Amino acid sequence: MASGVQANILRLLQDVGKAACRCPAHSQAFRLNQPTTPKHVCSSTEAATQPEYAFEMACSNIRYGKGVTQEVGMDFNNLGAKKVCVMTDKIIASLPIMTAVLESLQRHHVSHDVFQNVRVEPTDVSFKEAIAFAKAGNYDAFLAVGGGSVMDTCKAANLYASNPDADFLDFVNAPVGKGMPVRGEVKPLLAVPTTAGTGSETTGVAIFDYMPLRAKTGIGSRAIRPLLGIVDPLHVMHMPTNVATYSGFDVLCHALESYTAIDYDKRTPRPSNPIERPAYQGSNPISDIWSLQSMRVIKKYFTRSVKDPEDFEARSAMHLASVFAGVGFGNAGVHLCHGMSYPIAGMVKNFQAKDYTTDHPIVPHGLSVVMTAPAVFQFTAPMCPERHLEAAEVLGADITNVRKEDAGKVVADVMREYMYELDIDDGLMALGYTKDDIPDLVKGTLPQKRVTKLAPREQTEGDLAMMFEQSMKVY
Ligand SMILES: NC(=O)c1ccc[n+]([C@@H]2O[C@H](COP(=O)([O-])OP(=O)(O)OC[C@H]3O[C@@H](n4cnc5c(N)ncnc54)[C@H](O)[C@@H]3O)[C@@H](O)[C@H]2O)c1
Ligand SMILES: [Fe+2]
Repeated sequence: MASGVQANILRLLQDVGKAACRCPAHSQAFRLNQPTTPKHVCSSTEAATQPEYAFEMACSNIRYGKGVTQEVGMDFNNLGAKKVCVMTDKIIASLPIMTAVLESLQRHHVSHDVFQNVRVEPTDVSFKEAIAFAKAGNYDAFLAVGGGSVMDTCKAANLYASNPDADFLDFVNAPVGKGMPVRGEVKPLLAVPTTAGTGSETTGVAIFDYMPLRAKTGIGSRAIRPLLGIVDPLHVMHMPTNVATYSGFDVLCHALESYTAIDYDKRTPRPSNPIERPAYQGSNPISDIWSLQSMRVIKKYFTRSVKDPEDFEARSAMHLASVFAGVGFGNAGVHLCHGMSYPIAGMVKNFQAKDYTTDHPIVPHGLSVVMTAPAVFQFTAPMCPERHLEAAEVLGADITNVRKEDAGKVVADVMREYMYELDIDDGLMALGYTKDDIPDLVKGTLPQKRVTKLAPREQTEGDLAMMFEQSMKVY
């Protein structure tokens, strides 16, 4: 009975797919065993100059539940997977998280290999090592068990193992890479996120540090998003304090940046083919719901989840908040905090983050992102003060009688309060940067147009320099 219904649905989708006009004004790019290059596309030169008129929601399936990791072996059986590539990092490999995963795979006789060499804050070099492992193993499914570093590495490994002839820079965002759209199929990827967190289990984004430029960039394509995120709150109970703090600030910035991003219908250019519509599209009514809900949860639980590592209610709520923010920013995008974080992370000096057991200095992602937040929102608020005030209120600020002109100051203050309360270092200087680094930090932000152009306010190099300068000390 159920399979009959499924067959009917599939047939219906195929019929719709066959019948649909592939003009971007009238259809979505469903691809059901059809040629990967559409036969007929409106090639409109007008489109390049017109603002966007549509937005599109994409997100992984999400399964949430305490202990739900035990189901992962059955998932691979249900997919008919013959050989699974499991990716993780060395810390997670030694935790009960991995024991739960491996027990499930073994119980359900899933043949698998484990790659545990994922680099925390991955680079092009570490991505390539994982890609080589994936290519050599001829896997038909992937499983990422870890934080953003693991999930992003696994996405890249799957992408390039599925497109073995592609050059590494082919799919990397322009201008660093060629930014080519992914047209071929990739293998199913399941993700078990262990931080709260990047939301990478919901997105088609994989971020890495591009060593030749000493700045982060990434691959962004809906094609690489996980098929299923298995969100098991038991795992985030293992996060050390600073991992909970920094990854929580990542969630907060995802929500706030996506909520204050440029409106989707102000973004240019309008793609001439839906396959070219970027994952990061600007704020839109559906992303807004997810970003706002994430901020509500953050207000209630973020501080609690850090201050009391045993607080299961708070930690599991933050695990879900990272999913909410992931759906929000995964479709709306992030902007300046993230764009400016990429050179901050890439130009790391000797900073050793407490609770991060790495053999290399890193500025953890959430820390690099939040450092500029007070300066960024002060800068962006004049363009959409109502949105900034609404977000500040959701995060706990009293906005009674606040004038629109003061929206930036209010958001900056609320960010500073969270940062102070949760022991964030006092600005970029505390991480080892000086004012002499500002020209290079600006230079490293310029290629991040994919995100910086989503800010509601355009920035000159002078504006970026000013925001870096204001972020040297935050309190
Ligand atoms: N793809 C996306 O959409 C996206 C979004 C934001 C950030 N990122 C990227 O994700 C990376 C950061 O990921 P992250 O913040 O999740 O952290 P992470 O994956 O870098 O892990 C940080 C540290 O915490 C440890 N850890 C993770 N989970 C743990 C747990 N449950 N218990 C104990 N230790 C644990 C790891 O072993 C590591 O040492 C960065 O490279 C960033 O650029 C990606
Ligand atoms: Fe992030």
